[in-house]
Amino acid sequence: MSVASHYDGSASSSADQYQRENLWTLEDYPANYFRLEILLRELAAAKATSLFEFGVGDATPLVAAAKAGMEVAGFDVSPEMVEYARANFSANGLDPERICLADAQDLATLTPQIDRLGQFDAVMALGVIPHVSDDDQFVDHMSRFLKPGGQMFIAFRNSMFNLFTFNRLTKEFVLDELMAGVDDSIRAVVEADLDARLAIDKPPRRTRDDGTPGYDEILARFHNPLELSDLIRRHGFSEVRLHWYHYHPAPPMLSAAIGATEYRKACFDLEHEGSWRGMFLCSAGLIEAIKDPA
Ligand SMILES: C[S@@+](CC[C@H](N)C(=O)[O-])C[C@H]1O[C@@H](n2cnc3c(N)ncnc32)[C@H](O)[C@@H]1O
Repeated sequence: MSVASHYDGSASSSADQYQRENLWTLEDYPANYFRLEILLRELAAAKATSLFEFGVGDATPLVAAAKAGMEVAGFDVSPEMVEYARANFSANGLDPERICLADAQDLATLTPQIDRLGQFDAVMALGVIPHVSDDDQFVDHMSRFLKPGGQMFIAFRNSMFNLFTFNRLTKEFVLDELMAGVDDSIRAVVEADLDARLAIDKPPRRTRDDGTPGYDEILARFHNPLELSDLIRRHGFSEVRLHWYHYHPAPPMLSAAIGATEYRKACFDLEHEGSWRGMFLCSAGLIEAIKDPA
């Protein structure tokens, strides 16, 4: 199933996640709203004046950065997203030519942009790394767009959160990450035990009936924040920091028992908490790192 065709099917609704007035009414939790707050705060703190994005989507975050005074550009692999992003740029007085169709996994499509646009103070990829198969290559490609001393941001699906969901994803985390390399006979005993304890039928798989692939039908990987931090350091980055968002006050499968409004209020109360608990309570994280001097 193609990532581009999944996003071609979701281009029209992605801006909703960023609007303050939708925070209570959106069916899906408006996590991206909180992520954008963190991003704009960190970009301003570093006094970044130019920003390049991998996987721009409809360009809502890039337009927000432009409104904050930054020179912006980026690309996406989904032709529909590129169309939406260009229209969004035009509607906001920005040059639509600064959005391109390209593939983060194909250097041949990226090199012409580096040649045309040069390097930036900051580079970001929000919700893109779940969809790539080679993290080393992805970070290497991002680094090429970044000046020495520049800031890189990567938003990822947090595998550590799976310890708090008590469902099929917990089982996968325990068997595949925690118990990697442990003898199969031991893993089989643990698997049988977890099958009895956990809600193995949850979460429901996210599919679509409009013909385009749902999120769980495309490559959509989790990342371990500690492994990802190490990988980024190996690529010549330091000052690696983890920012957490999309907090959960309780495992998501209990939200109906708690009450949807109560549950969401408790999520909002935790956003910006900023302590170690984010590593386990947040389904998403934003990793920030500084590229070492040349
Ligand atoms: C979850 S959306 C996020 C969009 C935007 N970054 C935002 O945060 O609002 C992920 C985007 O990454 C794009 N994408 C996925 N894989 C890509 C790749 N290999 N190269 C470029 N874009 C990609 C998708 O088409 C989609 O627009």
